[in-house]
Amino acid sequence: MSHAPFHLACVACAATFPGLELRYRCDCGGVLDVVHAFADAPSLGDLDARLASKAPLDRSGVWRFRELILPVDAQHVATRREGNTGLYDAPSLATYTGLAALRLKHEGENPTGSFKDRGMTTGVTMARALGMTRVACASTGNTSASMAAYAAAAGLEAFVFIPEGKIAYGKLSQALAYGARTVQIEGDFDAAMDLVQQVCAAAGVYLLNSVNPFRIEGQKAIGFEILQDLDWRVPDWIVLPGGNLGNSTALAKGMAELHALGLIDRLPRVAVVQAAGANPLYTAWRSGAETVEPVRAHTVATAIQIGNPVSWQKCLRGLRQTDGVVTEVDDQAILDAKAMVDAAGIGAEPASCATVAGLKRLVGEGVIAPDADVVGILTGHLLKDPDVVVGYHQDGLEGITATYANAPVKVRGALDEVLALLGG
Ligand code: F0G
Repeated sequence: MSHAPFHLACVACAATFPGLELRYRCDCGGVLDVVHAFADAPSLGDLDARLASKAPLDRSGVWRFRELILPVDAQHVATRREGNTGLYDAPSLATYTGLAALRLKHEGENPTGSFKDRGMTTGVTMARALGMTRVACASTGNTSASMAAYAAAAGLEAFVFIPEGKIAYGKLSQALAYGARTVQIEGDFDAAMDLVQQVCAAAGVYLLNSVNPFRIEGQKAIGFEILQDLDWRVPDWIVLPGGNLGNSTALAKGMAELHALGLIDRLPRVAVVQAAGANPLYTAWRSGAETVEPVRAHTVATAIQIGNPVSWQKCLRGLRQTDGVVTEVDDQAILDAKAMVDAAGIGAEPASCATVAGLKRLVGEGVIAPDADVVGILTGHLLKDPDVVVGYHQDGLEGITATYANAPVKVRGALDEVLALLGG
């Protein structure tokens, strides 16, 4: 494996490094890309044929695309059949956002309930390929849940760093349950991110945040799967939430690679939606700035409560390549959109529903045409954050109006009382 069919390249200064060198950044501090040789790129027909295969790699919604993602020795692969998530027609949400039609790709259907599993299967696979036995991440919750599960399944020791009190219970439960050593730090996510990078460098632990470029490679598969779901028709727009900006980076990188390989004939436009309380990308994009300045983040969508996104440079590149846009939505808009997503029988965690809130805004402003072909990505499962759901429906969230509340009704338990409730 000394000559991998890929290498690493710095996004800032273009320096290159071997694909299997243990590093996350360039010596100049810039973040890295995985650059593939793509000597064995499959055809779309090859990729479709794998849908009928029973081989474990073909059954994964990431490894089905392996030559485009991470061509490594199969013995290292740590897979839990991630991906294969539903692409739903959502007519009520099309109406809500002002579109004629809308499809939603539900990444909450991954094994640990978020899209992070797609990047974690490749990240943990690289840990094994590099002979690492300990892995770590900082997280707003989903990355740590995913890493804890994949590390446990692969027999690696896991350390997670989370901001105390700022992570949803479903996610904290998962890290503990899967046996990760869980460190709650007194700062926010951005402080945890700083700390974990120092810890990994000092203690020889493999870093599995999305600054690790191999995480990005796995997450490209969301876009690949959307196109495969659509029989390789490229939608006009793909819309997703942005926090640390790894996922939007992955989406654009994957699309640009398919285009360069001639597998698709145009690029979808990418729309990134940030929470108004955690909007450094939006601020930079709106003013045309070349760099993203950190902010102090605060939003009910704790998954994207990030003020200093690691992948901002790669994300801006992707937005330029795909003629993309950035918008922001406040917590009220996120939770109202969430109530609609949940009531459609689909359901997702708050950060995911920024997608739908952002779409409503972009259609309202005329940026996205009502008849556009749009796919929105829902990034995490509804049960990740049950507190917010119960709080909203009981009108108990500070500063939020429960516009679409469905509060539980209390009764003494007599039949006539309940029959009266049912009506008629
Ligand atoms: N949606 C959810 C549910 C997330 O958990 C995250 C990120 C995002 C969207 C944003 O994706 O960071 O690639 O821009 N969660 C990270 C975590 C940071 O630690 O789980 P991004």
